[in-house]
Amino acid sequence: MATENRQTHWENVYTSKDENEVSWFQESPAPSLALIAEIGTAPTSGIIDIGGGASRLVDHLIEQGFLDITVLDLSAAALDAAKARLGERASRAHWLVADATNWQPSRSYDVWHDRAAFHFLTEARDQEAYIARLRQALKIGGHAIMATFALDGPEKCSGLPVQRYDAARLGQTLGAGFELKRSERNDHATPWGSHQLFQFSVFQRVE
Ligand SMILES: C[S@@+](CC[C@H](N)C(=O)[O-])C[C@H]1O[C@@H](n2cnc3c(N)ncnc32)[C@H](O)[C@@H]1O
Repeated sequence: MATENRQTHWENVYTSKDENEVSWFQESPAPSLALIAEIGTAPTSGIIDIGGGASRLVDHLIEQGFLDITVLDLSAAALDAAKARLGERASRAHWLVADATNWQPSRSYDVWHDRAAFHFLTEARDQEAYIARLRQALKIGGHAIMATFALDGPEKCSGLPVQRYDAARLGQTLGAGFELKRSERNDHATPWGSHQLFQFSVFQRVE
């Protein structure tokens, strides 16, 4: 899908719905926070949330004292919603409106977090473009926390088809240089009480 079409889709979503009217809303991003803690993220570690949208992950990271947080998303409206919620605290994070498949990273990070953005890339060339950015922006020794719908999770999200994964399939897609450190399944309850099975995998970049 072209960036413009993707961007239009997501701008429509975030201009027509409140944060808790979307299936992926989490009151607390507990699984992500637990994994960020488990990999030993330091207060000064560079953390980027790819496709962070209006997620509350950034709120929790600021509250926990992380000093170098970036949220990247295609949708300016999503980031504006997060910034409005945070008020003055928004200045404690960096905000990037960009498409993860053609973004040009200007620095590197210790932690790359993605919950439910990568799985929208269903074409090999988009996945490859994303992984090229991951390799550009994640330090060797750094960690990528990748959450996608599980193999038995939904086939669509936000009306768009998704690619579902388990840790092995995700590892194959990422290619050489990423060592799987941990993987877990997560049953996400949507705001209206339905269930979506996710997988969360942590990879360390080793080369
Ligand atoms: C299902 S939402 C998940 C949002 C957030 N990660 C969370 O867990 O609440 C997917 C997000 O990915 C963003 N997104 C989709 N494709 C993207 C891309 N190619 N580059 C950057 N962001 C993208 C969307 O704008 C949206 O905010």
